[in-house]
Amino acid sequence: MKLTEFIRYVGVNDNRRLLFENQWPLPYGVAYNSYLVVDEKIALIDTAAAAFGEEFLRNIREEIGDKKVDYLIVNHMEPDHSALISLVRSAYPDIEIVTNAKAVPMIAGFQGVDANIRVIKEGESLSLGKTGLVFRMTPMVHWPETMMTYFPEEKTLFSGDAFGCFGALEDSNIDGFAKYRDEMVRYYSCIVGKYGQTVQSALGKLAGIPLDRICSTHGPVWESELGQVVSLYDRLSRYETRRGVCIVYGSMYGNTADAAKAIYDECVSRGVPCALHDAVAEDASFIYKDVFEYDTLVMGSPTYNNDIFPAVRNILHGVCARMVKAHRFASFGSFSWAGGSVKLMNQKASEAGLEIVSDGMPFKCSFKTAMPDVKSFVDSITHYKPLA
Ligand code: FEO
Repeated sequence: MKLTEFIRYVGVNDNRRLLFENQWPLPYGVAYNSYLVVDEKIALIDTAAAAFGEEFLRNIREEIGDKKVDYLIVNHMEPDHSALISLVRSAYPDIEIVTNAKAVPMIAGFQGVDANIRVIKEGESLSLGKTGLVFRMTPMVHWPETMMTYFPEEKTLFSGDAFGCFGALEDSNIDGFAKYRDEMVRYYSCIVGKYGQTVQSALGKLAGIPLDRICSTHGPVWESELGQVVSLYDRLSRYETRRGVCIVYGSMYGNTADAAKAIYDECVSRGVPCALHDAVAEDASFIYKDVFEYDTLVMGSPTYNNDIFPAVRNILHGVCARMVKAHRFASFGSFSWAGGSVKLMNQKASEAGLEIVSDGMPFKCSFKTAMPDVKSFVDSITHYKPLA
């Protein structure tokens, strides 16, 4: 598919895989994007996942026929983009791989390829004839070898996973922010969320580069909606949220669930934007998404074996692992004889740097019998000054 005078799209849609990285659901599929820059020399930018070798090579041949591909640019070595390197080398034996030093041992390790590799550094360029490519190192977005490739003649950035989203591509692979926005936040939260600081460094390095389009490895090519996409990525990587409450709970016999629903109803009645998630029934990725959307996280867990209920503990661990900043935190939960989950949740959240805004709302046995003071608890989580 021709994108511009020089750029062709040769990626594939994956509508078969249920779980990305074998853990994140793909209700709308996912695309593994790859591009050709066709000048006197031809450069292929990244490849695709292992299951798509035949389709991928066919896509390339549909664009360039029997011409050779001269260069394979490896921006990122995670196997959803690198699994076809050895196949591409078999199809084009003279192809030169162009990448940075950190990717070289990964290419050998994942693909068994260690010859005819050109190692480039920050700011180096590669001539393709009338045009050329420039390489920018963006480590830890979200692997150590990640880099981006800039094509100045058409003001195009091949950004790797950055600015990517879940969702297979349909008829048009250009723009679609309204459609893909939530899946971009979910992708970011799950895959890149831990690396906000290095994403910010990358954005700083790219500032000032003239851009007409971003070609990510997942999701559409961003052109007219570029500003919205970069702005969202900037906000997410600064851990900036909007005012609102994400309630996450786990429940064994419905008592902590009753409390969660009462807190949710009270928030809604006060006009506070609010999301309610059952940590047992829902996939973690949809919960992480709303943690990155709202500035307040409220978690509910019964005390189980003197600990946090496992499904809730898992989500809290995932939030802490993503080094979520500038969030407020409160907790609640049922206990039968000795409490402990609220104290433990507060402790873990506090250690991770979240601001504890309430001592919590533990209650004994049944929510309906104990009748904890939900209004006061919601006062403490919704009555606050804006975060600095
Ligand atoms: Fe889409 Fe980090 O691979």
